[in-house]
Amino acid sequence: MKDLMTQDDLKQAVASAARDYVIEHLPPGAILGVGTGSTANFFIDEIAGIKDRIGGTVASSEATARRLAGHGLRVLDLNEIDAMGIYVDGADEIDASMAMIKGGGGALTREKIVAAVADTFVCICDASKRVETMGKFPLPVEVIPMASAFVSRELVKLGGVPKLREGMVTDNGNVILDVHGFSITDPVGLEAQINQIVGVVTNGLFARRGADVLLLSSANGVQSFLR
Ligand code: 5RP
Repeated sequence: MKDLMTQDDLKQAVASAARDYVIEHLPPGAILGVGTGSTANFFIDEIAGIKDRIGGTVASSEATARRLAGHGLRVLDLNEIDAMGIYVDGADEIDASMAMIKGGGGALTREKIVAAVADTFVCICDASKRVETMGKFPLPVEVIPMASAFVSRELVKLGGVPKLREGMVTDNGNVILDVHGFSITDPVGLEAQINQIVGVVTNGLFARRGADVLLLSSANGVQSFLR
């Protein structure tokens, strides 16, 4: 029976484990940060059932804000709050140091901002996202539109192969370059190096501030890892 679990079953299982984590660790009435993507969407649907014990949420994208509000969860502006207990979000890849590649859904900048405010980053994903060395998933970089050609040339100098994500405009009005070809052995260093290119808003490496808790879903159940 377990072999028949679909990707959505795994996302559902980890979302439900994350809801339990919130019940156990977030004081009633406290603020919860909520990520973006299909796994985060399962999580949003799960916390609809516990909305009375959540003081408010901060969304990492317009899509997440709409889904939260649709469930009757209170959505706050990040500037209205001064502390956030937990941030829950998915990832495209995560390594053993709990560094992640994020931004497959294009929400990396707001995700990184909300994550920076949270005391605890809880990453939720299925076991396919856990890798030895990150980089197979192209690294998203959010760029001010007028700088995209310049930033692309600089990324090539770093050994990457950037491709403009066609038809994508971020919630912040910018474009995304997806950078192929990296084998990321120094996530903290590469994150800093890319962020120093003029015109880059931020990149999808979450290494300096990685995950604190990983809930990883597989056919054997949901396993929990701490940084
Ligand atoms: C969005 C993200 C997502 O967390 C990441 O892309 C994983 O998405 P999914 O849960 O759909 O696999 O960073 O910007």
